[in-house]
Amino acid sequence: MYTKPEHSGNSKGGRPLSHAEDTGSRRDFLYVATATTGAVAVGAAVWPLIDQMNASADVQALAAKEVDISGVDVGTQLTVKWLGKPVFIRHRTDGEIEASRNTPLDDLKDPTSQNNADWNADASDANRALDEEGKWLVMIGVCTHLGCIPLGGALGDFGGWFCPCHGSHYDTAGRIRKGPAPLNLRVPNAAFISETVIKLG
Ligand code: FES
Repeated sequence: MYTKPEHSGNSKGGRPLSHAEDTGSRRDFLYVATATTGAVAVGAAVWPLIDQMNASADVQALAAKEVDISGVDVGTQLTVKWLGKPVFIRHRTDGEIEASRNTPLDDLKDPTSQNNADWNADASDANRALDEEGKWLVMIGVCTHLGCIPLGGALGDFGGWFCPCHGSHYDTAGRIRKGPAPLNLRVPNAAFISETVIKLG
């Protein structure tokens, strides 16, 4: 169960924040929401970055969101809006899990988990998936290059997410594998609170 406060900002002035920079500032992003609120369809929308703000752990706790994932079939993804950002909730196929778990860590561009549960962990699949079996993956759906919303899943050269803005390819664990994005997609605080409900925050 994830307990640490989220650090979800990931770029500044058009460049990605370093891990230390992000962790230190605890900045959050405000986006102009061009999509609908609540559950939204996966798309290629760009949410322009217009501002940054500090979001304390208290504020984020108040903003915790429960998501019913009972209707998310294997091989599909639900996108919800949370704290002003899209969150991808992917029900991965066995093939997606296997592809991720069989990827040598040396092949990864960003070797860190980018998971609020443990920033010091490596980017192995087990350190990013929500459950032990790896069936569920929860990520902030904001490209770590300049903030577009990647398309997914099962897209791009690595069968995960593809950001068409400048051609960043993420694998089936949301790890950056090719293109200008420097970091893996962020994994927020999340936990199952029942068999069919995930709590964000
Ligand atoms: S915003 Fe540039 S590749 Fe995603």
